[in-house]
Amino acid sequence: MCGIVGYVGRDNAKNVIINGLKRLEYRGYDSAGLALIVNDEIKVFKRVGKIREFEIELNRLNIYSNIGIGHTRWATHGRPTLENAHPHLSCDGKIAVVHNGIVENYAPLKEELLSKGHTFTSQTDTEVIVHLIEEELKTSKGFFEAFLKTVNRLKGSFAICAITTAEPDKLFCARKDSPLVVGLGDDESFVASDVPAFLPYTNRAVFLEDGEVAVVDRKGALFYDFSRAPVKKEVMKIPWSLAQAEKGGYKHFMIKEIYEQPRAVADTISGNTAWFKGEIPLEGIEPSSFDRVQIVACGTSYHAGLIAKFFLENFAKIPAEVDYASEYRYRNPVVNDRTLVIAITQSGETADTLAAMRLAKSKGAKLLAVCNVIGSTATREADCVIYTYAGPEISVASTKAFTTQLTALYLFSLWLARERGALGTEEVEELYSHLLEIPSKIEAFLNRERQDETVKRIALEFYKSSDALYLGRHVNYPIALEGALKLKEISYIHAEGYPAGEMKHGPIALIDEKMPVIVVATKGSIYEKIVSNMEEVKARKGKVIALLNPGSPEAEKIADYKIEVPQVEEFLSPIVSVIPLQLFAYYIADFLGYDVDQPRNLAKSVTVE
Ligand code: AGP
Repeated sequence: MCGIVGYVGRDNAKNVIINGLKRLEYRGYDSAGLALIVNDEIKVFKRVGKIREFEIELNRLNIYSNIGIGHTRWATHGRPTLENAHPHLSCDGKIAVVHNGIVENYAPLKEELLSKGHTFTSQTDTEVIVHLIEEELKTSKGFFEAFLKTVNRLKGSFAICAITTAEPDKLFCARKDSPLVVGLGDDESFVASDVPAFLPYTNRAVFLEDGEVAVVDRKGALFYDFSRAPVKKEVMKIPWSLAQAEKGGYKHFMIKEIYEQPRAVADTISGNTAWFKGEIPLEGIEPSSFDRVQIVACGTSYHAGLIAKFFLENFAKIPAEVDYASEYRYRNPVVNDRTLVIAITQSGETADTLAAMRLAKSKGAKLLAVCNVIGSTATREADCVIYTYAGPEISVASTKAFTTQLTALYLFSLWLARERGALGTEEVEELYSHLLEIPSKIEAFLNRERQDETVKRIALEFYKSSDALYLGRHVNYPIALEGALKLKEISYIHAEGYPAGEMKHGPIALIDEKMPVIVVATKGSIYEKIVSNMEEVKARKGKVIALLNPGSPEAEKIADYKIEVPQVEEFLSPIVSVIPLQLFAYYIADFLGYDVDQPRNLAKSVTVE
């Protein structure tokens, strides 16, 4: 997720844009750039690194303009280098574009534009946009027509802002599945990914909907749909303070990131579509070159690995073992050149995971990294990388990184199953179609079925607990572990995750009428088993909070509290069942008044041993 800022008006565009980018830095921070129209020429300035350094460099320049666009990048395609930083220019230098999102069909578009003589200077998907506008201009009556033709050809998600020397007083913007908002000031207008960029100047905002474009000048903006039909838009007054606005109006980054999961999962699917569908190769991996998998990771990423084991063994029929990276590196693992080691790491900088990768490599293994940060150490040391497209995860407690890791690992396992002939194309298509439904299932849980209110009410009952037990089986046992970790790390309540079948081998002695027992009781191959485990807890006066699918009378009649989650294909149920557990931990920590985003003793990325 990147940050876009556009400005046209009476002020110095350079200063307004830089100030706006600084307030969007939470959206991405590996490089920044801006383009200004000065004396009918577009001047572009870019820098890898933080906005602050960029600002110092720009302040040395005596440059003035009333119009420009800026961008702070969270790399999705192409490493965080200078040539990959936005804005991107057309061949003739008369058009500049910034973009947030993923152009799913960038590969065929790039081929077409190269064959028409366009030259590219970056590896980004974004650059196809500016060259496509330039190409369409040849057969259009004016820039806006070319701009519209372009947005109608793009697939995937995009928020775009463009400027051109042909119309040096206008910003051209479009939105599809990535946020874009217009700020209306006094003799000045703004375009941004999010309101914090212009809140100090105006609180009058117009939010573009998917499939809408805007032509913005200093007097205001005109809005159309992609077929050029005018659209009437309402001007909103933003009630937030700047601090609130950076969190999108949410109280903490964690709750904001929980609610970003439908988008993050959808972006991770579309960002990996090209190789999954065979349009481009999955670089660095030869499916027949290995016959076993070892997964190494830490914390929440380790829990994703436990679930990936189910995907790999059930779909690709390949043996997979999972280790804590900190254990793997000292147990002298048996590894050879027929072993694929998968490192799962949101940050790409976790010391134990990097050490495990290096040990595996020294023993001849092939390395695949599943990572959320392009250009991080893990991505540079792996033979192959599969990216999650969660955008920056600011809160220490990992939420959207986890669900996007599961998404990426599910795609990889299906791809591997098809490549190894373990599953037929139709079976893979069927399983893939279940994944496509997941973003809307999460959305339904969070926004339509109002189950988040149910979770909040239950959290209020238990936030003073001193212990908690999470139970799950099969593919949801790791979700019990993940739910317990979430509660531990932000509320400091001792919580344990356990395989429900293990209860009778000791932990059941812990059960009493005070301790909440959270049970993942969604439908699937072991549903009857988990229901009988719930009975065991109830027989000892335990308080059972059950996550269950609608129409589960057996579980409902035992549970003291129930949280309904949408029913999905069994192997995908962890992506949905983890959501209420994230919320449960969040609300309890918030009720306790703790610093949810920066819990005590923790860091977002553990780069030391
Ligand atoms: C999870 O909420 C924690 N933030 C922590 O366990 C984290 O998952 C772990 O440190 C691994 O981080 P990584 O994915 O960046 O390697």
